[in-house]
Amino acid sequence: MTTRGVFIFRQLFDRSCCGYSYLIGDRTQKIGLIIDPVLEQVDRDLKLIDELGLELKYVLNTHVHADHVTGSGLIKSRLNLGNSPKVISIISESSGAEADIFVDDGDVIDCGLIKLNVTYTPGHTNGCMSLIDHTNRRVFTGDTLFIRGCGRTDFQEGSASKLYDSVHSKLFTLPDDYHVYPAHDYNGQLTSTIGEEKRLNPRLTKPRDEFIEIMKNLNLTYPKMMDVAVPKNLICGGK
Ligand SMILES: [Fe+2]
Repeated sequence: MTTRGVFIFRQLFDRSCCGYSYLIGDRTQKIGLIIDPVLEQVDRDLKLIDELGLELKYVLNTHVHADHVTGSGLIKSRLNLGNSPKVISIISESSGAEADIFVDDGDVIDCGLIKLNVTYTPGHTNGCMSLIDHTNRRVFTGDTLFIRGCGRTDFQEGSASKLYDSVHSKLFTLPDDYHVYPAHDYNGQLTSTIGEEKRLNPRLTKPRDEFIEIMKNLNLTYPKMMDVAVPKNLICGGK
């Protein structure tokens, strides 16, 4: 069976945290899921989901975000009006956050013809996961791998050595043509490929020791949303 035309795919942007959310839909069954929704964008996202005629099944977070509050809780409270919940929240087992379903390395999230393989990629946080869509040859890398960069590792149980190992053993082992869709980009780029990042990522092409040294010396400022976002995201956005 050819899958051309079966999938809806939308990359959605939030200006305040330079964050991407991803809506994936299965046209044949009219169902879909959203990855890393942002609280302030819930109206926009739900309008789009409605316009596209999709019923939202899952809301996923790649990790406990520190720079924005997840839209998971608000989406659920807007859509789960009857007795049987329609929308189910998902996060990794090791995130320590609340959700309806916890997934772990090797699990597959099934949503009609959409199949996302969960791969555990700790380093930015201890609970980070990436989601591989083999059918469409792409991977959602959360804050583990960015376009020519990576997530910071200086808080939330961050570990530069774990991030390096996650990227090299779990992501750089994917085929070169797989598209990389990160949770953020601060320079206006939308996507990259595994091959490009293996060749051009200025941090992750370095030897492990050098990478750890780079991450140690980034001197980043404390995220302004952190004290608000993390506690709320640990309880699925507060709802
Ligand atoms: Fe993050």
